[in-house]
Amino acid sequence: MSFQEENIINLHIAEKPLTVGEMVVADYRKAEVFRKYGIDYCCGGKKPLEETCRKKGIDPQVVQKELDALDMLPAEEQQHFDEWALDMLADYIVERHHRYVVESLPMLYELTAKVARVHGDRHPELVEIARLFDDVAVELQMHMHKEERMLFPYISTLAANLREGKPAPVPVFGSVENPIRMMEAEHESAGGNMEEIRRLSSDYTPPADACTSYRVLFAKLDEFEQDLHQHVHLENNILFPKAIQMEKGSFAA
Ligand SMILES: [Fe+2]
Ligand SMILES: [Fe+2]
Repeated sequence: MSFQEENIINLHIAEKPLTVGEMVVADYRKAEVFRKYGIDYCCGGKKPLEETCRKKGIDPQVVQKELDALDMLPAEEQQHFDEWALDMLADYIVERHHRYVVESLPMLYELTAKVARVHGDRHPELVEIARLFDDVAVELQMHMHKEERMLFPYISTLAANLREGKPAPVPVFGSVENPIRMMEAEHESAGGNMEEIRRLSSDYTPPADACTSYRVLFAKLDEFEQDLHQHVHLENNILFPKAIQMEKGSFAA
């Protein structure tokens, strides 16, 4: 068990079990196990493993065994995002994940429409996938715009000011919890649409007769969903709860 994971566990030992989101914060390798079992660690990451497994009809002991097996392996060089300053983390999310979305959307938007047009007669689920992806694209662009224009600059200034002993900035939205609640609801909506796309595409498995565009589309959608999971994980499980704590601390000071 890593030092970091031990710390988090110590904090929770007298209270309640770790949530799946907290497990991923402590060791990102665990995300792969959750992904394998279709366990949501980003939008729905605030629940303990047992509860999440029960809802999905999975034996929690089987999952726990795989998670424990990871603890026996030497920790890889991984980035400990939970140790980063919040302004640095906000910049990283924009540079890595928002940029990825912006760069992927035009190609995916075109490809979902094209594959639905060409193969929609024989595979009507492609038409629904194109419609759902269109919603994801529109919603995510507005969502990231709000984060980049309002929420992230506030969090970054708050972190930098407190570090430099300056007073906290005055939020225009009352408390940071208000926009965060809205962002989390939007994450859930985008995550839900991607989950539906995954279901309609049978876990992004192209049929035997699929052409190259069809295969590329499913592979890219799979990659897009995985990136979205990590993106939302960094916001829901690290950036947002820490910003709320930091803001509360600044009021108390
Ligand atoms: Fe974001
Ligand atoms: Fe977000």
